[in-house]
Amino acid sequence: MRTQVGIVGAGPAGLMLAQILHLHGIDSVVLECRSREYVIERVRAGVLEQGTVDLMIQSGVGERLAREGMRHEGVHLAFLGARHRVDFVGLTGKAITVYGQNEVVKDLIDARRATGRPLHFEVEGVSVHALDSNTPRIRYQSGGQEHELVCDFIAGCDGFHGICRPSIPAGVLTAYERVYPFAWLGILAQAAPASEELVYALHERGFALFSMRSPRVTRLYLQCAADEDLEKWPDERIWEELITRLAMRDGWKPNVGPVLQKGITGMRSFVVEPMQYYRLFLAGDAAHIVPPTGAKGLNLAVSDVLLLSRGLAHSYQSGRRDLLDRYSADCLRRVWKAQRFSWWMTSMLHRQDDGNPFDYRRQLAELDYITSSRAAMTSLAENYVGLPID
Ligand code: APR
Ligand code: PHB
Repeated sequence: MRTQVGIVGAGPAGLMLAQILHLHGIDSVVLECRSREYVIERVRAGVLEQGTVDLMIQSGVGERLAREGMRHEGVHLAFLGARHRVDFVGLTGKAITVYGQNEVVKDLIDARRATGRPLHFEVEGVSVHALDSNTPRIRYQSGGQEHELVCDFIAGCDGFHGICRPSIPAGVLTAYERVYPFAWLGILAQAAPASEELVYALHERGFALFSMRSPRVTRLYLQCAADEDLEKWPDERIWEELITRLAMRDGWKPNVGPVLQKGITGMRSFVVEPMQYYRLFLAGDAAHIVPPTGAKGLNLAVSDVLLLSRGLAHSYQSGRRDLLDRYSADCLRRVWKAQRFSWWMTSMLHRQDDGNPFDYRRQLAELDYITSSRAAMTSLAENYVGLPID
């Protein structure tokens, strides 16, 4: 079997790449080790930058997003019992859209099906070969049979735990990493969102975030220990802690309702350089991870594949490799700025558990500064709504 671009992984990166390549008339095969149901039901982040929304609409996968996505023109930063609004539209002219990553994935899978191009779920034993040749190969098993896919290019869109990054020979990549000494305990609750916009809160007891998925479903997170045991968190304890951290002096607090889902998310900053090796290109979580505080993970995956699709299309049209050769360098400039922003938001909003109260005072001063200086607030806003892709 032969294809132009072999894509490993059907997360947002792999599926969006497949869609944009399709629009350029470039053929691809998408291979995913999980089932369709698993990929669609996995609860993930939910904030889309304006550039991500625009790209989805231009790529023909924005119809339901335009209808059901919730446009947010700002967020609140909360500390010492009061909320302070950051007005994205007033400061930058741009907004964000709240729409679950699993909805994005569902829409992309439907679009892929409509093209009739191949997308295989539940494939096993995926491995990549002949990476330094002109025809790299992907081997896998599906339906009890061995397959070999001969490609012009391979896109490693297989997330942080995928096989593409580790298949690059030792010594080629440099990894940069920071692991945080805390995690997020997240819930999805059957409760109408009590605020129209997100609330990021720093409380003496730690960070908490109020978000949402629909006019009936609230999404909430609270800072917990990195090795937290979910068993120790019955619903009543989660609500008590969330209300303690999120209740404001003006009486605002999240609405309570049945917990539909709960889980723990680890916090990590990670980048590999370069994001390419001969004809293998890494995109999305396969190449970098951000802590979720800046809501950048999905958006970075989308900007990577936009740059990759441009490089691939240019190479097929002109026979020239210059844009593709610059893929890694072009991505990494934006990736590192998103890393910086995500690290900064994380360190500003989480309690350090080292017994030294200095940092908490410093963080409160930082929040006070940001919410009272138009210059500082504009810097936060322009990063949050998304820096230009190029
Ligand atoms: N073979 C085939 N598929 C694989 C393999 C493999 N060996 N290993 C992993 N996968 C699949 C995973 O099952 C997953 O569906 O690759 C996909 C990678 O998708 P994501 O983890 O969603 O990564 P990405 O598409 O880069 O999207 C990044 O996802 O993790 C969130 O917050 C992150 O929003 C960000 C976004
Ligand atoms: C979410 O709604 O899941 C969400 C929102 C903002 C974040 C992270 C997650 O920073």
